Amino acid sequence: MTAPKKLYVKTYGCQMNVYDSERMAEALGQQGYVETTDMAEADMILLNTCHIREKAAEKVYSELGRLKPLREAKPDLKIGVAGCVAQAEGAEIMARQPMVNLVVGPQAYHRLPAMMEAVDRGETALDTDFPEEDKFLHLPAGRKPARGPTAFLTVQEGCDKFCAFCVVPYTRGAEVSRPVDRLMREARDLVERGVREITLLGQNVNAYHGQGPDGEWGLARLIREMAGIDGLDRIRFTTSHPNDMDDDLIAAFGDCEALMPYLHLPVQSGSDRILKRMNRSHTAESYLTLIERLRAARPDLLLSGDFIVGFPEETDEDFQATLDLIEAARYGAAYTFKYSPRPGTPAAERPQVPDAIADDRLQRLQALITRQQRAAQEAMVGKETTVLFEKPGRMAGQMVGKSEHLHAVHVDGPETLKGRIARVRIIEAGPNSLGGVLA
Ligand code: SAH
Ligand code: SF4
Ligand code: F3S
Repeated sequence: MTAPKKLYVKTYGCQMNVYDSERMAEALGQQGYVETTDMAEADMILLNTCHIREKAAEKVYSELGRLKPLREAKPDLKIGVAGCVAQAEGAEIMARQPMVNLVVGPQAYHRLPAMMEAVDRGETALDTDFPEEDKFLHLPAGRKPARGPTAFLTVQEGCDKFCAFCVVPYTRGAEVSRPVDRLMREARDLVERGVREITLLGQNVNAYHGQGPDGEWGLARLIREMAGIDGLDRIRFTTSHPNDMDDDLIAAFGDCEALMPYLHLPVQSGSDRILKRMNRSHTAESYLTLIERLRAARPDLLLSGDFIVGFPEETDEDFQATLDLIEAARYGAAYTFKYSPRPGTPAAERPQVPDAIADDRLQRLQALITRQQRAAQEAMVGKETTVLFEKPGRMAGQMVGKSEHLHAVHVDGPETLKGRIARVRIIEAGPNSLGGVLA
């Protein structure tokens, strides 16, 4: 018997790429590949890439540069590029790095096994189609024990919103929702394999409108149905668009016990002038009203967001409006980005904000967010919450898990806590995690 071939997968970008990487590893498993965490022993290296900002895309080329000596030492080593850079740049990747054997876009993963056969024959393979067939139907769902007590499940893919700065509608294509029965089967399968928390994923997850047994279902209905799965204790979803937050989903935060009190709801800017130029089709006020309604349904909801500074033509007043919105919204966490012009998107052609100004705004924004994040962590001290324990902590005898509000929490406790949900009283707030004692 020949030894199995080793596959090393490196994932960049969003959680949807994490989910896709797992599915691709399973598809290649059918070609005889087993996964390794040691790049040096790999027979195949697959980079699952992100195109969202220039830096993200450039990372891929520098990583490919670093792979050169490995390939020289091992001429049989196969190198593949998947994900959003593969979709956006296609054949150009092979032109820039001829050692790449395979380029596969995010909608063509199910064709990987056939592509690998071509690569094994010594050919290069490229597929960046948006095929009619549903890639998820052809991808095997994992049969092995789950990687841990939490898992991602992609329910919706693509985006029709076309924000003026964003590549996602071009790299992932139009919005597509997966049918309810497939998702329920995959969720049950995950739970049977030890998963207790599922995060439902989509570039526009709350626009989910999948085929159910009696017509189309929205995300809230899907969540309520999944909440009925015995052994599935926690459900989260990401990323949402403010305009797709319907009444039923808001209500679910109040009446669906399994739905965790954490919501990532990017707003990008607090200036209506900039929001309009971004093609966001919501205002600062409509966003704040929405948050009020969400907090009325679930008072302890922890809100997180995304912000872009230095979007073309952003003035000091526009930026001040963003700071004002943040003060009013009270975030528990947020991701801040400096605008990065992306080829092919409308905003890339507009007058750009000078770098030094954008850098300064980014720093001020981050300082405000850090303050709010600390306040949210400190507000947890003295409170009881539940924690789903995932792994041992850095210190001996410690276990770490996630609270309902997605804070990392460490406690002194036995390894048998792994995969269990326990009540914890929070006693301290550090910069990156909370400390607690089992209640
Ligand atoms: N679908 C999600 C987010 C997708 S991308 C949504 O609608 O919000 C994740 C985040 O990256 C975005 O929320 C945005 O803040 C940021 N982003 C996207 N394009 C960017 C660009 N060109 N420059 C800087 N940040 C960007
Ligand atoms: Fe990009 Fe999100 Fe806007 Fe879609 S809604 S274009 S994914 S930022
Ligand atoms: Fe990046 Fe593509 Fe996700 S551009 S953020 S990997 S959808």
